[in-house]
Amino acid sequence: MPPAPLLELRRLVKSYGGVRALRGVDFNLHAGEVHALLGENGAGKSTLIKTVTGAHAPSSGEIVIAGESVSGLTPTTARALGIACIYQQPALFPDLTVVENIALRLEAGATLRRLDWRARKVRAMELLARIGAAIAPDAEVRSLSMPEQQLVEIACALGAGARIVIMDEPTASLTQKEQHLLFAVVRELRGSGVGVIYISHRLEEIFALADRVTVLRDGESVGTHAVGDINEAGLIKLMVGREVAQIYPASESSAGEVVLSVREVGCRASGVHAVTFDVRAGEVFGLSGLVGAGRTELARVLFGLTPADTGEILLNGERVAISSPQNAVAHGIAYVPEDRRRHGVVLDLPIAHNMTMAIHPRIFPGAWLRFGAERSLALEFIRDLAVKCAGPDAPGGSLSGGNQQKVSLARWLATKPKLLILDEPTQGVDVGAKSEIHRIVRRLAKDGLAVILISSDLPEVIGMSDRIGVMGGGSLRAILPGKSDPHVVMAAALGTAEKGAA
Ligand SMILES: Nc1ncnc2c1ncn2[C@@H]1O[C@H](COP(=O)(O)OP(=O)(O)OP(=O)(O)O)[C@@H](O)[C@H]1O
Ligand SMILES: [Mg+2]
Repeated sequence: MPPAPLLELRRLVKSYGGVRALRGVDFNLHAGEVHALLGENGAGKSTLIKTVTGAHAPSSGEIVIAGESVSGLTPTTARALGIACIYQQPALFPDLTVVENIALRLEAGATLRRLDWRARKVRAMELLARIGAAIAPDAEVRSLSMPEQQLVEIACALGAGARIVIMDEPTASLTQKEQHLLFAVVRELRGSGVGVIYISHRLEEIFALADRVTVLRDGESVGTHAVGDINEAGLIKLMVGREVAQIYPASESSAGEVVLSVREVGCRASGVHAVTFDVRAGEVFGLSGLVGAGRTELARVLFGLTPADTGEILLNGERVAISSPQNAVAHGIAYVPEDRRRHGVVLDLPIAHNMTMAIHPRIFPGAWLRFGAERSLALEFIRDLAVKCAGPDAPGGSLSGGNQQKVSLARWLATKPKLLILDEPTQGVDVGAKSEIHRIVRRLAKDGLAVILISSDLPEVIGMSDRIGVMGGGSLRAILPGKSDPHVVMAAALGTAEKGAA
């Protein structure tokens, strides 16, 4: 008889009030495999994980770990059973050092007889070395980058002897180099017999890393396949239930008047130097570059979060001083920031309120009217953006990650801006929603909006932009025409090309 799987879920059901997030899912994980979990936003991936880590109790069904049926799982018992979860935003203590964090995690509950910090440090260094992480054990966690913190989490998982390691969208904010390191660590874990559950919206990662893949749709498993037996189109079809053309909508607008004119703009505090470009009504101006190139920093300057200290900004030909976000909004600028988990949705407020809060100061006078207007606007956005939710009154916190992203997009669209700055708008959204967002961006441009699109997804920025500004080291290195060759864009980003103009 083959050994029992490390983990087996049998007919797992999870309801949140009226929402059936999981409807009888079967799933299993073997030792020494990477099992990817795939599905549209709101399909139930994170919910499945939360039942396995003991964060949420399943409504019915069975969780079997190494052949033993377990019930009443809590985060503590799950950890004791060898289950570890690496979240995108690690949950370490920022004021403590790496050694202290690892010690706390591994010794939680145990009575500390003697504080042998030398031994703890040696152990931390061994764990970090095993995953190839060059991190100083005495560094305070607050001084580490997000990916370094993820590595510390993985070291904790290893130290705790985890047999089942779960990663929920771990690469969303990693650079390519960090991603390669993470992949190497995952392969190392697999090689040592750990079973890994890996969630990602990036199909190429699944093919690079996973052995098997299970697709969830609307809370049900629609199949488990060996990765070698299925291709990208097949996976998309399973996920969405239809074919999704990976084609970017054509530009239908002709560029109109210059809306935004940026002249030698710089901001010392955020490392932006002498940036010059124009964006016209009806135009999508892409911003490409490596992570850390200064794209988000530039967006923050244009939105008044870190106001410019040199150069000039003109809106519709008039010189303006954008000193605060309120000021930017008053000038018709909207900014959808990148990190929805920190700046996005207010979890306790209803979805409708989340969508309209940027226009509340100037929304209609009467409370009744306002309530009605808020609801109908929200219903419109829920339909247009295909937000998967119980309704406009459901709290923001009840949405899946990708659907929260759509709500923060809606919030800024509701301001009817002249200039819309989108920072990684499709990060963490599924393939169907991604092409939906592309269509909406095109439609907005056609309606006369000027759009700045920041994206690390090279095909996306090339496919969507009328012109592409390439940034590096806080300055604009080149402005290339839309549909440029990816190699040319990359070369400009790396600073290996001559400065171009278009
Ligand atoms: N705390 C909650 N209260 C109510 N409903 C919830 C709660 N958490 C999740 N849901 C609902 O359960 C469903 C599944 O959500 P889940 O977060 O598991 O999706 P997901 O597959 O991880 O999506 P994403 O790719 O967007 O992260 C969604 O319809 C979501 O709105
Ligand atoms: Mg999720």
